[in-house]
Amino acid sequence: MKSDFDEIYKESINNPEKFWQEISNDIFWFKKPSKILNKSNPPFYKWFEDGTTNTCYNALDLHVDNGRGDKTALIYDSPITGNKKKFSYLELKEKVSKFAGSLDNLGIKKGDRVIIYMPMIPEAVVAMLACGRIGAVHSVVFGGFASNELASRIDDSKAKLLITASCGFEPGRTVEYKPLVDGALKLAKHNVDKVIFFQRKDNEVKLNAPLEISWDEALSNQKDIDCVEMGSNEYAYILYTSGTTGIPKGIVRDIGGHIVALKWTMKNIYNIEQDDIWWSASDIGWIVGHSYIVYAPLFKGCTTVLFEGKPVGTPDAGAFWKIISDYKVKSLFTAPTAFRAIKKEDPEGKFFSKYDLSSFKSLFLAGERADPDTIKWAENLLKVPVIDHWWQTETSWAISSNCTGIEMMETKYGSACKAVPGYDVKIINPDQSIAKENEMGDIVVKLPLPPGTFPTLWNADKRYEENYMSNYKGYYQTYDAGHIDEDGYIWIMSRTDDIINVAGHRLSTGAIEEVLSEHQSVAECAVLGIADKLKGQLPIGLVVLKSGVEKDNDTISKECVQMVRDKIGPVAAFKVVIVIKRLPKTRSGKILRGTIRKIADGVEYKVPPTIDDPKILTEIKEDLVNHKILNNG
Ligand code: COA
Ligand code: AMP
Repeated sequence: MKSDFDEIYKESINNPEKFWQEISNDIFWFKKPSKILNKSNPPFYKWFEDGTTNTCYNALDLHVDNGRGDKTALIYDSPITGNKKKFSYLELKEKVSKFAGSLDNLGIKKGDRVIIYMPMIPEAVVAMLACGRIGAVHSVVFGGFASNELASRIDDSKAKLLITASCGFEPGRTVEYKPLVDGALKLAKHNVDKVIFFQRKDNEVKLNAPLEISWDEALSNQKDIDCVEMGSNEYAYILYTSGTTGIPKGIVRDIGGHIVALKWTMKNIYNIEQDDIWWSASDIGWIVGHSYIVYAPLFKGCTTVLFEGKPVGTPDAGAFWKIISDYKVKSLFTAPTAFRAIKKEDPEGKFFSKYDLSSFKSLFLAGERADPDTIKWAENLLKVPVIDHWWQTETSWAISSNCTGIEMMETKYGSACKAVPGYDVKIINPDQSIAKENEMGDIVVKLPLPPGTFPTLWNADKRYEENYMSNYKGYYQTYDAGHIDEDGYIWIMSRTDDIINVAGHRLSTGAIEEVLSEHQSVAECAVLGIADKLKGQLPIGLVVLKSGVEKDNDTISKECVQMVRDKIGPVAAFKVVIVIKRLPKTRSGKILRGTIRKIADGVEYKVPPTIDDPKILTEIKEDLVNHKILNNG
């Protein structure tokens, strides 16, 4: 394998099959694939089609079998509860094979779907890996989602089993899962066979047999279970993510390519070796958590940290430095918002100076654009490279990054660096022509996508094809817009759909609008993401009331906010609804969301020539000023 970045990159694009075949030798296969890429049915490509392997075997057993069973696999640290625990590869394998035995006892078979709705505790990781061990398909649902979102995932996946916990802990608030689960089971049309509750210490809940059983009950009478041989193109998991409508999209991950690609990234992108300690401060409910708390570090055989806490408030802005120093973490991966939160609370880095961070070598940021101010602040404080890299739930690993394990590249502040080997990234114009250097356009990736990316959507091949692969023939449409400069650096500037990024969490404004439209006094509405200094973006709602509504505006705003919290969840961070007289529209009736957003962000805007009545923009501006929204960012 070559060592120069440009050469490696070129090889990956010019000869992807040879490139990935060589890399695929680094993982365990029951049967090595002889067909590397099946291109016969675009855009449905199949990597390593005739290979057989197992996700859990590659994450745990392989390392134990290679004599590394004593090596620490997982460090759990929960500043919220004060609990800490380390698990070696052998210990984790034993826990997982026992729990896999429990799943088998409950009748869960290869291909069955299992929903995991849990806080950041080791049992969540055990549940994910146990699914992989027996070939069940997990679908992890983030704890900050409400019953309605959980129900839609139960229905779409037709899950047989739900695994949850008695509670989670947010700073100053206990998240009771039981009422959320009860609500979801009531709303869902599909019935799960069983619900397993992990009872957290001093926070046990009363369970209703026979549907609900505790984790400990599930473990009784179990037998250890070995890894099941799985086809490379069978599914490891479904992860639902926000789409352009309120109906979430089930991103699926096939097994072989996922292991091959993710294992490769640990050294090549992140420069992590087997003996290193790695930490991704995210949540297992997001793709960053799937790939970089659980799978990639365990495939690599290094140590991963599972942190049940926040960058600030658990207990202070030194929480991240404490973890790095206590466990000698080499590299951290988190969202820029976490660093903005620390910067806000401790701008001079007073907490930082209390800890020894000599082990720390690099910081990776993703999930939203890393603003240059935050990068520079972090560089100044940490004195290590701070790397912005770009990726999506759809891909499960970085599309562009500084590949620090191959060759350290120069930082260009505001850019997410160059395309990673495997991704042929282009900027495209609406007429399908490829944009020139530095020209803005839609960012696309030439097909086939590399291994580890999404081969389709759960039970929705048509939606996959129409949504992602149709507007630009032969390309995957990322729905991000930006440009590529003369040195090949990619600049991600905005989304081209209704997705916004709130504290690194991906949300659909369309989904929030659907909830607001259900309010009986609301005639029409628009939700937009406006710039926010801490969270990157925040959603605000503008609602126009039906005529004859007697309730006062304040009450309606509060009700709308509560509806979004109840239906989508606290994660939407939806706190502001403004009642306005009318929404600005084009003559054809399209709401001018982009223009309103520019007004709210205090940036220059042109009055669109197609607007039906330009005076409305002045009214909106006044409303935003009155609600202290203007120039919030
Ligand atoms: N379960 C239940 N509720 C959750 C939750 C979870 N796992 N995670 C967040 N929430 C709740 C929060 O308690 C908050 O509720 P509130 O309205 O009652 O206060 C709400 O969802 C919004 O959460 P968040 O957007 O995270 O805001 P915050 O003010 O609590 O914290 C940060 C702000 C920056 C500290 C936090 O977003 C953070 O740590 N971000 C790190 C980056 C990250 O994890 N990104 C994910 C993808 S990489
Ligand atoms: P998610 O699927 O939740 O990972 O969100 C993916 C989206 O987050 C991308 O399509 C981008 O809009 C945004 N995103 C992720 N990483 C970056 C980055 N480094 N710079 C800019 N936007 C990013």
